[in-house]
Amino acid sequence: MAKQTEAKEKGFGSKLGFVLAAAGSAVGLGNIWRFPYLAAKYGGGFFLIIYIILAVTFGFTLMLTEIAIGRRTGKSVIGAYRSIDKRFGFLGWLAALVPVIITPYYCVIGGWVLKYLVTFISGEGETSAGDGSFFTGFIGEVGQPTGFFFIFLGITAVVVMFGVKKGIERISKLMMPVLVVLTIGIAIYTMTLKGSGEGLKYYLLPDLSGFTFGMFLKTIAAAMGQLFYSMSIAMGILVTYGSYMRKEDSLEHSVRQIELFDTAIAVLAGLIIVPAVFVFSGGDKAALDAGPGLMFITLPKVFDSMAGGQIIGTAFFVLVALAALTSSISLMETVVSIIMEKFRLRRIQACLITFGICLVLGMLSVLGYSAWDSVKLFGMQLLDFFDFISNNLMMPVVAMLTCILIGWIAKTDYIEMEVLESQKKFGSRGLVNVMLRFVCIVCMIIILVTPFVTEI
Ligand code: PFF
Repeated sequence: MAKQTEAKEKGFGSKLGFVLAAAGSAVGLGNIWRFPYLAAKYGGGFFLIIYIILAVTFGFTLMLTEIAIGRRTGKSVIGAYRSIDKRFGFLGWLAALVPVIITPYYCVIGGWVLKYLVTFISGEGETSAGDGSFFTGFIGEVGQPTGFFFIFLGITAVVVMFGVKKGIERISKLMMPVLVVLTIGIAIYTMTLKGSGEGLKYYLLPDLSGFTFGMFLKTIAAAMGQLFYSMSIAMGILVTYGSYMRKEDSLEHSVRQIELFDTAIAVLAGLIIVPAVFVFSGGDKAALDAGPGLMFITLPKVFDSMAGGQIIGTAFFVLVALAALTSSISLMETVVSIIMEKFRLRRIQACLITFGICLVLGMLSVLGYSAWDSVKLFGMQLLDFFDFISNNLMMPVVAMLTCILIGWIAKTDYIEMEVLESQKKFGSRGLVNVMLRFVCIVCMIIILVTPFVTEI
């Protein structure tokens, strides 16, 4: 009871606030620069179907489990795992390390987005369209990327400093509706461009021509990896946000809403990007790149070539900035909640410490493209290395151990008890039980080994 009163004071004031903040965390760069590319690459509509099936089973289970752990323990990720089973205390630390690694480089990329936003707002969007030298020139210097990184990190820290209700909840309620309107608006515009039909077909219709069994497995692995990334699973965020959730709000219902939000924005982002790139490239599928290349090199060219491109480009980068910001806020809040709890510090102190850590670590990523671009770790740029160890190694391990802890040691009853706090029946009990004990563990092993097998 005492725990719940405390959660009420420090937590979300409404179910809508919680859902929007968690959806804000989920909707991020992953939805915009990863999902459309993967969907187009792996059989269009076929990938979408697989993704949706996995979202309502695998994604649903992992998200529900983490939020339930957070709400039941009322603790930050380190305290939460330890209080379930002392032997799993290390898992809390491992999960805590993930946002410590991700937040800095995520804010560096957020800074790149701000740079493009400023370029488009000041009417100079066409300077960023070209052979990519605008982008490589920009990240190749130290001053500007550091400045924009600093601003993005600063905005994130200020929101987190205001706390859960006054900072995160308030900003999510403001930004998420704008994000939805922008996404729908730009998607309608690009879908009506002459020649976009071919791109739409390529994106939405299942294309199984030349599809082998190997391709089928690769599609499943890609969809699983994307789901995992997109839903902010295994990085302590959902445990943290869960610890701020009100006991009276339905867990199952909230998770469904967050998933729907995240998937809908990802699909819509594809409706923006795939037809637009198709029109621009005259139907050349190879133009659909992934990652920074798509966002910072291909799309500016696409905007430059379309009527009203300056306005659409500006709207697009506002959308990406909002998506990235709500995600970075959730990443930073996770670190701040740990520091507050572990070192018994006030929010403002924890925010300043987190800001300092992110500044130092983020500079490694900034310098990795400029002054230190000859430094490589396992053949990767520093930013790519941070991304690789967090996403491809640590997160699947954290998720797998979480499934073992809850599925086999604490048992599904642990989740059920928490779900029943706010509803009479746990409708998905059977699904969650099978998923946690068997399917999710196998899925994690597939996610873990696929990059290595495909590399070989
Ligand atoms: N889910 C968010 C996104 O899709 O961008 C946030 C996020 C996921 C950040 C994974 C970082 C990360 F490695």
